[in-house]
Amino acid sequence: MTFPKDFLWGGATAANQCEGAWNIDGRGPALTDVTTGGSKDTPRYVTFLDQDGRPGKIPAHGDVLPEGAAYAVLEDEWYPNHDGIDFYHHYKEDIALFAEMGFKTFRMSISWSRLYPKGDELKPNPKGIAFYHRVFQELRKYEIEPLVTIWHFDTPLYLEEHYGGWKNRELIAFYERFAKTCFQEFKGLVKYWLTFNEINNTVMFLDLLGNNASDEAYQNAYQCLHHQFVASARAVKIGHAIDPQNKIGCMICGITFYPLTPDPKDILENRHHWEQNIFYCGDVQCKGEYGSYANRLWKAHHVNLEISDQDRKDLKEGTVDLYTFSYYMSTIVTTHKVDEKVGGNFSAGAKNPYLTYSDWGWALDPDGLTYYLEIIYDRYHKPLMVVENGIGAFDRVEEDGSIHDPYRIDYFREHIKAMDTAIENGVDLIGFTPWGCIDLVSAGTGEMRKRYGFIYVDKNDDGTGTYTRSKKDSFYWYKDVIASNGKKR
Ligand code: BG6
Repeated sequence: MTFPKDFLWGGATAANQCEGAWNIDGRGPALTDVTTGGSKDTPRYVTFLDQDGRPGKIPAHGDVLPEGAAYAVLEDEWYPNHDGIDFYHHYKEDIALFAEMGFKTFRMSISWSRLYPKGDELKPNPKGIAFYHRVFQELRKYEIEPLVTIWHFDTPLYLEEHYGGWKNRELIAFYERFAKTCFQEFKGLVKYWLTFNEINNTVMFLDLLGNNASDEAYQNAYQCLHHQFVASARAVKIGHAIDPQNKIGCMICGITFYPLTPDPKDILENRHHWEQNIFYCGDVQCKGEYGSYANRLWKAHHVNLEISDQDRKDLKEGTVDLYTFSYYMSTIVTTHKVDEKVGGNFSAGAKNPYLTYSDWGWALDPDGLTYYLEIIYDRYHKPLMVVENGIGAFDRVEEDGSIHDPYRIDYFREHIKAMDTAIENGVDLIGFTPWGCIDLVSAGTGEMRKRYGFIYVDKNDDGTGTYTRSKKDSFYWYKDVIASNGKKR
């Protein structure tokens, strides 16, 4: 029996994927509100009107809007994040279900544009503040500890359009104001915070494009990231000053990389993947400075980073208290030509013959979680939390309304075992919040049918559905896991 007695069992969501109410009570739009639905084989698009008012769209990641175009919601397109699962109006019912499962913690994010509709205002939107007060109070009613992500993929659209997004240093100050408001307003209600969700995606995404990413794309990505690092560090300092009880973490997209062959070139390439995609962000946020390999990474793409002395000071003074990460899968790195490539969470690599894959092609690899936990704990010696993990799968509702999801139970059983092993081996793991504990809109594909939840939501990809919530078999199973502190699984 290894899980510590106050282990934080729970579940995780993000505002833009579940709240809905995208234009209600003063909320401004975010990029996710001009992003269409997609599928495993069709990308999501960002929609716009060009300078002559003609509708158009570009793939959601990577491309830039044509000159003179403006983001727009188009009549004939489908935007799944607009309604999400309508958590905005169902939060009481949902939190009651989380409490029934025995959640000790609930990870959620605050929509930036609900608090600051454009992002550059001086005062927050009172209706936005009031909503989160109600949610946190409801969680407290059941003694569920909120774990709050300040930014989860949802920079206000106005900041994207008028300031050029995170490329612009001015965003640091806007984020700082937003974070400060969160710390002040929710002091006493929230103690666990994460500054940026999967902050490393920006570089991982470039890796995905292989040789197609230009040096300019690398320059932008590293500069955006630097601004986010500084914003995060300043938020950590402010958060600690406002309430010394605050525990503030980074959040990394955790992928375990393995080399395909013993060819030293593969071994080296694999280490470089760890450095660029995983350690680069973790080192800055946990150690307060760039790793020595950063120079090599920048040089490879002629990146010339603007870093001020004040930035370096902020990074040093604003290191995080916790290292948190998502873990879904591992991936294979090689310098050799491969016939079959497989995708995944912001990554792609060779197929691993020793693993099986989900319906969406993500590798199922619990051992990779033990590996990741051990390597990261050894590097930072900070408490760790797995704040996302799960399997996106098709679920079937039987005639009597029941939903049998043994594949999900199997997945979690194995990953809980993997955490157990890591704890046994000395890792200080303090919490586990499975992703999409209630079905929600997929970030990658915009689908509803890619379901992760213990709780089923009657909402379909064509927009139909009643939003009725029902319990899957895994709901009862996870309840027992929590009640037995991980023993019964
Ligand atoms: C992570 C994100 O990338 O993985 C979540 O933090 C996302 O927002 C999750 O939903 C699962 O990915 P997807 O594409 O299946 O929704």
